[in-house]
Amino acid sequence: MTERIRIALQKKGRLQQSCEQIFKNCGLSYNVGERQLYYSISEMPVDLLFVRDDDIPSLVSQGTCDFGIVGLNTFEEVRYEDKENFNASIFAKLGISKCRLSIAIPETMNFENLSDLNNLTIATTYPNIVKNFLNQNNIKANTVLMNGSVEISPSLKLADIIADIVSSGATLKQNNLKEIITILESEAVLINNNNINSEKREIANRLMVRINSALSVSSKKYVVLNAPKDKIDEIVKILPGSESPSMLPLANKDMVSIHAICTETMFWDVMEKLKELGASSIAVLPIEKMLN
Ligand code: PRP
Ligand code: ZN
Repeated sequence: MTERIRIALQKKGRLQQSCEQIFKNCGLSYNVGERQLYYSISEMPVDLLFVRDDDIPSLVSQGTCDFGIVGLNTFEEVRYEDKENFNASIFAKLGISKCRLSIAIPETMNFENLSDLNNLTIATTYPNIVKNFLNQNNIKANTVLMNGSVEISPSLKLADIIADIVSSGATLKQNNLKEIITILESEAVLINNNNINSEKREIANRLMVRINSALSVSSKKYVVLNAPKDKIDEIVKILPGSESPSMLPLANKDMVSIHAICTETMFWDVMEKLKELGASSIAVLPIEKMLN
C-alpha cells in the first residue's frame, strides 16, 4: 500500500490533549514540540498536521488534509458558511469532548418561549449556527461576533444574551447567566474530505478500530487484590506503573489487601503472575476521574 492519509489536529487547546492521549493509547505516540507542525507516524501510513481548530474544517473540505479531528460545533459553523461548496463529512463520532452550544440569558431576565428572543442581540462565536437556528424558528434577532469570553458580553452591554459552548456550566454561573435552550449537542468528530479514495478510507477504518479500542479502555485502573504477607514486595513490583499502593489488614493474619492505581494496561499475563505469587480475588476496576 503506497497511500498515506493526512489528518489535521488541533495544535493547542482541550482537544489537543485528548488527541495526544488517544493516539498514545493506540500505540501511535507522537511527541512534538510546540513549534513542530507536522509529524509522520511510522507504525501506520498516517501523517499529522497541527493547526488552529477553526482551520480544520476548511483544510479538509479543500482537500489539503484528508481527515481532521475537530469539535462538531466548529465543523458545523464552518459548514454553514458556504454550504453549497463545502466538501467534507463526518466519518465517525468519537464520543469525547462532549459539550453543547446553548443560548443563555441573564439570571434576572424572564423567559417563557422562543419569541421572547425577538429583537434581542446575541453575542456568539458561532454566528452561522445561531443564525440558522433563528431562521428555522422565525426569530428576528441580531448576532454580534465574539471570539472568546462571550459570557462577559451582557454585563458589558455588548449584547443582551449569548450563545456559547457550555460544558460544566461553571462559566455561565460565574457570569450570572442561565441556560435556556440547547442549539447543538457537540462532541469531537473525525471528518473526511468527500473525494478521498477507497484506499484512504480503508486506512482510516483501520485507524478507527485502534481509536475505538483506545477509547473503550482507559489506561488507568484501580487494582485490588489479596496477597500473602511474605509476597508483598514481589507482588507490588509487578503491578504495572503503580507507585505506592495501600495495604489493608485482613481477618486472615497472613494476608493483606493491596489497593493500587496502575497507570499501564493490566494484561492477563500480569494477572496470572500475581496468582502464581499467591494473590487472590484480583479485581481490575476502571477509574472514572482522577486528580493528581
Ligand atoms: C469555553 C466556552 C465557555 C466555557 C464552557 O471557553 O467558550 O466559555 O469553555 O465551559 P464550562 O461550562 O465548563 O464553564 P474557553 O475556556 O475555551 O475560553 P474562550 O471563551 O476564551 O475561548
Ligand atoms: Zn468561553
